[in-house]
Amino acid sequence: MSQSDKPKPSPNPNALIVVNAPEEMQRSARNLSREGKSIGFVPTMGALHAGHQSVIERARKENDIVVVSIYVNPTQFGPGEDFLSYPRTFEADEELCEEAGANIIFSPENLYDPGSRAFVEVGELGDVLCGISRPSHFRGVATVVAKLLNIVRPDRAYFGKKDAQQLVVIRTLVRDLYLGCDVVGCEIVREPDGLAMSSRNRYLSPAERRQALAISKALEYCKYRVADGEHDAMKLMEGMAEILQQQPNLEIDYVALVNADTLEDLRTLEGDVLVAIAAKVGATRLIDNVQFRDLPPA
Ligand code: PAF
Repeated sequence: MSQSDKPKPSPNPNALIVVNAPEEMQRSARNLSREGKSIGFVPTMGALHAGHQSVIERARKENDIVVVSIYVNPTQFGPGEDFLSYPRTFEADEELCEEAGANIIFSPENLYDPGSRAFVEVGELGDVLCGISRPSHFRGVATVVAKLLNIVRPDRAYFGKKDAQQLVVIRTLVRDLYLGCDVVGCEIVREPDGLAMSSRNRYLSPAERRQALAISKALEYCKYRVADGEHDAMKLMEGMAEILQQQPNLEIDYVALVNADTLEDLRTLEGDVLVAIAAKVGATRLIDNVQFRDLPPA
């Protein structure tokens, strides 16, 4: 039998494919929807870790098709931030996506044509917390997420709760612009010692890695005090700041106790509460949080 007579192996319908062109991704998404397939979408900037993996695995369980985007979005980085040095690890990311059961990696080269002028503003939600030290960050996030959702047209889009402010911004974006997908918040995945998983953890030296643990420790302390009945935001904030300040290379950006939906400061913890910390450990900016639901009035 000659080579050309051999039966061709049938293509594996579940094989992971990589799509680069936005137009091709949009066409495929439309076709999948027409076929009645539900699409779960996990937007990322790559440098994937076990946190992303658990999000992709959840999307796998809840949808017929899982699309993961990998795109380091330039507009969400400010001057002097790590856009150029942000880890780009496509091959490892591809492996992780395959293992977690993704069907499509959407990896566009550029989502901003030279002539593109439309941006999405998110008002005061983008001006507080991380928005204070990163003034254009959430405008960049909202703009790229709007582009990605318009391209992929998912039924469900999945985001990690570690980026709590980002999740609030995206829920607002999807609601206000009628983008028509469910936004699913996924639990924070932690290292065994408590450090929240982040693509930026790889920047930390061993000594910084140890000091970074103070962030999750401060949040644990807060959880413990709240369970013990402490609802005074100032007292909790001071306690957390004290833990963080014990680390010589840790510089606090903020320790905030805010309403989990409006991001407004609280004096007393009540209802749905977000306790969020942002700090620089050496040169690496890290964020983490805990949330309380339905706290009764003190
Ligand atoms: O969370 C991220 O990785 C990014 O901010 C996102 C949502 C992919 C937008 O670039």
